[in-house]
Amino acid sequence: CSFLKEKTRQEVLEVLCAGLARQEYRGYDSAGLGIDGDKPGETFFFKEVGKVAGLRKKIAASSVDVQKSFVSQVSIAHTRWATHGPPSERNCHPVRSDEKAEFCVVHNGIVTNNAELRLVLQKRGAVFETDTDTEAVAKLIKYIYDSQAGKSITFTDLVKAVLKELEGSFAFVFKSMHYPNEVVTARRGSPLVIGVKTDKKLKVDFVDVEFAGQDNDAKVDSLQPQSPSSMLAPPSISPKVLRTQSRAFMSEDGLPQPIEFYIASDAAAIVEHTKRVLYLEDDDIAHIAEGELHIHRLRRKDGDQSPSQAATTRSIETLELEIAAIMKGKFDTFMQKEIYEQPESVVNTMRGRVNFDANKITLGGLRAYLPIMRRCRRIVFIACGTSYHSCLATRAIFEELTEIPVSVELASDFLDRKTPIFRDDVCVFLSQSGETADTILALRYCLERGALCVGVVNTVGSTLSRETHCGVHINAGPEVGVASTKAYTSQYIALLLMALQLSEDRISFAERRNQIIDALHEMPAQIKRVLEQDAGLQQLATTIADNKSLLLMGRGYQYATCLEGALKIKEISYMHSEGILAGELKHGPLALIDENMPVIIIMTQDSLYPKVQSAFAQITARKAQPIVLCNEGDEGIPKGAKTIRVPKTIDCLQGLLNIIPLQLLSYHLAVKNGCDVDFPRNLAKSVTVE
Ligand code: G6P
Repeated sequence: CSFLKEKTRQEVLEVLCAGLARQEYRGYDSAGLGIDGDKPGETFFFKEVGKVAGLRKKIAASSVDVQKSFVSQVSIAHTRWATHGPPSERNCHPVRSDEKAEFCVVHNGIVTNNAELRLVLQKRGAVFETDTDTEAVAKLIKYIYDSQAGKSITFTDLVKAVLKELEGSFAFVFKSMHYPNEVVTARRGSPLVIGVKTDKKLKVDFVDVEFAGQDNDAKVDSLQPQSPSSMLAPPSISPKVLRTQSRAFMSEDGLPQPIEFYIASDAAAIVEHTKRVLYLEDDDIAHIAEGELHIHRLRRKDGDQSPSQAATTRSIETLELEIAAIMKGKFDTFMQKEIYEQPESVVNTMRGRVNFDANKITLGGLRAYLPIMRRCRRIVFIACGTSYHSCLATRAIFEELTEIPVSVELASDFLDRKTPIFRDDVCVFLSQSGETADTILALRYCLERGALCVGVVNTVGSTLSRETHCGVHINAGPEVGVASTKAYTSQYIALLLMALQLSEDRISFAERRNQIIDALHEMPAQIKRVLEQDAGLQQLATTIADNKSLLLMGRGYQYATCLEGALKIKEISYMHSEGILAGELKHGPLALIDENMPVIIIMTQDSLYPKVQSAFAQITARKAQPIVLCNEGDEGIPKGAKTIRVPKTIDCLQGLLNIIPLQLLSYHLAVKNGCDVDFPRNLAKSVTVE
């Protein structure tokens, strides 16, 4: 954060710690911050492994004068999810350039040419104190600064020169003793949002972008790597500096005003201070000083800019996010709250889009693209984790209603295979966060190949929602628990709505469509009925919790439910769990079955019911005692079998109801095993690194 407004150190620390805590849901292993010290240019650091609460304790126990107040100041903080080097205090951010902390930086993402940079910096005498890739950046900026000795160079130009040397994906915030009360932040591949808070009305709703031409750009030609060892010859930097006038930050009366800037990778950290935000694009560099924000563009040698990057302004948007929506309320954990929100979140996904009287679907974000989508050669769904499972769950109904072949891809594998993509393909990207690195890279790969790219995203303003041609927001509300629950059911419905809308010109499907829309109408009430079984599922969890493993079996529409249920169980309870296609039982998994192996078999009533019955017979013949997930009132379930009963709905929607007891079961298993439900070990909510 950067303030041009009197604040005590205590207030600033509170802003930083609260901001970090708001982003806890994304998963992290350590936290740190850097604030202005007592002497000019000095920075005080606090770092701690583990939770933000631990960092707070450390600050409270320190002798730092929290009452000291500042008229203008810059402070930075970070939660780290280790990529280079283990979680430790030493590897916490902010990372400093040297003992005096002439420069310090916080970083999200990965610098992939870190090894080369380290090597050349070491050859020039740099001694590294952390295992992080970030330290190469901190040392590089100091190296360039030192090599400019005697010449004046702006903080922005310095950062530009650094960014030109970096490969990978990142968002940075830099602070320096040489540029007191100034902060520079930049992104390439990782999200960054800047919140603006003033008491007065902003003059305009945008900030101009300075497109520095080649001639005016900071030049560090000799830093361009021919070979690593030749990289760090002293650079020459053009002193010419362009400045744009940020009209937005003059108040209407034209007078300077107290102003607060909040920089974060996620709007959740900012929303309690201000709802006025602007999102940076890749290769934007924002400089904040003296209450002004200037955005500069880094021109890279390679490549084109997307239309949003090439725009000459960045607009200041007003966030809709309510702080209450990201609080736990009466629930013990965010995950539990989010499971219980599903009767409302599915309604929010359908709101304004489904006309139940006319049996009509309208997805405004796709309207202009429907003709292209209907004519396409194939549809490719691309996603990771739970989002991937929502694609699997809806693939069959999508193919049935649209009669277009659909393939479902895990983003990482899709990229590894360099999958052929053509102009007449439609690629649909599913992501709760809209920031998953693999999914974004897959999107850019498909954009380059000219395919129509459609986003199905929960987070408004996320990279995925901005870089796709068109799309659907699932409107599930902020999801905080690392294990995705309500986003799954909303993604499922959003994809189904998309299939329904694409097929609306097909008369032969009218009856099927009407049945599905009627069933959607019943869905919220049916979800509520499933949630009422929570106590029974808690009881069931106590009987399973001591096992090492749990198998989930089903077929057809329910295969995706098995995979998603198993993912929930393993990610939060750390119990091994596997989703098994019942049709494959004889090809291997049957060998796992004996009287000790717990199995849940999904046997809800659809056209594959008889086949699942025979799978049931095969496993009970091998002494398994499966728990049967079946429909209420189904008399066909053998007497004595343990059951989980759910209401019956149409085949293609049954997975929405079947997943809820599995979410609840995984939740209770995790609680029973003493696991941290919202922050499972080793996992992050949004995986912004490859
Ligand atoms: C991480 C999360 C999962 C999520 C996956 C994809 O692994 O822990 O819950 O399903 O990323 O995230 P996305 O935001 O792209 O849906």
